[in-house]
Amino acid sequence: MLDEIALMQTEAEAAIAAADSEAALEELRVKYLGRNGLVRGQFQKLGSLPKEDRPAVGAALNQLAKGLEERLEARRAELAAADADRALLADAIDITLPGRSHRVGKRHPLLATLDEMVAIFLGLGFRVVEGPEVEDYYHSFTALNYPEYHPAMDEQMTFYCGPDVLLRSQTSTVQIRAMEHMEPPVRIVVPGRCYRRDTVDATHCHTFYQLEGLLVDEGVTFADLKGTLEIFAREMFGERCHVRFRPDFFPFTEPSAEVALSCTLCEGGGCRVCSNTGYLEVGGAGEVDPNVLAGVGYDTDKYTGFAFGVGVERFTMLRHGIDDIRLFYSGDMRFLGQF
Ligand code: DAH
Repeated sequence: MLDEIALMQTEAEAAIAAADSEAALEELRVKYLGRNGLVRGQFQKLGSLPKEDRPAVGAALNQLAKGLEERLEARRAELAAADADRALLADAIDITLPGRSHRVGKRHPLLATLDEMVAIFLGLGFRVVEGPEVEDYYHSFTALNYPEYHPAMDEQMTFYCGPDVLLRSQTSTVQIRAMEHMEPPVRIVVPGRCYRRDTVDATHCHTFYQLEGLLVDEGVTFADLKGTLEIFAREMFGERCHVRFRPDFFPFTEPSAEVALSCTLCEGGGCRVCSNTGYLEVGGAGEVDPNVLAGVGYDTDKYTGFAFGVGVERFTMLRHGIDDIRLFYSGDMRFLGQF
């Protein structure tokens, strides 16, 4: 009988080792250790054994039962661990995969330049004012002292939304809107988008940005205008940059000047960028025409002022060596990604 027990143990242990599920293990438990199981069957045979053999066989059977119990438990734990491993593997993260990078947005080069220009004037005590891009005729021209049918209107050809409503052709319109709501001293800069019916080429676009400046106070002279723009030019392009003023005409300033900077590339010597003139035209300026001040109700005996307007595209092109204005409005990420 001891042989039988040993054989049963070998068989049972092999079966347990081969079992690959909880259910299979449970089946084996019932088969060997259950109420009608094989081990119990052996116990029942004990009674028919000679008395002196019973203790040894009994002990062997007890050991068999206990051993199988332990094996079953061990195998059950093994299967559970394997299950857990499989579950972990199934939703594992492959940490060797390269990460997905997030695209980080940044300022458009035009707006970045505009911010820098504005920051210089903030440092000089100016504050920022904005105005509507869709304007009426009065603020666009009449209040800026444009006589009807004046040739200066030709430069301001723009897009009309109605007989009296148009896309502003210059930020100078905001001079009027600001002064209508302010008493001197006025010290403002106006960044903003303008529109003109220009034929698009490498240096012209129907949409562009300007930065307007206006200062009205007692005793303001042309010298203040020159000093202010000199400081701006040096802050923007370095100590060696200087400003050239030449006579020009704008209806809303008297006298008026064309504003040019010494070429940022050749510093005035003459090169391809400045067409060998040594200077780069960047905008217009002048002493505010008394008609304009009177139009908004200012006392022209007491107050004088200066104003200027510069193109933001031009500055941006100079700073970054960009040779085609259309790139700014192309939406081409290969271009924009460089800044
Ligand atoms: N608005 C003018 C233009 O677009 C530039 C300009 C000239 C602005 C003289 C001014 C100024 O404020 O005083 O051509």
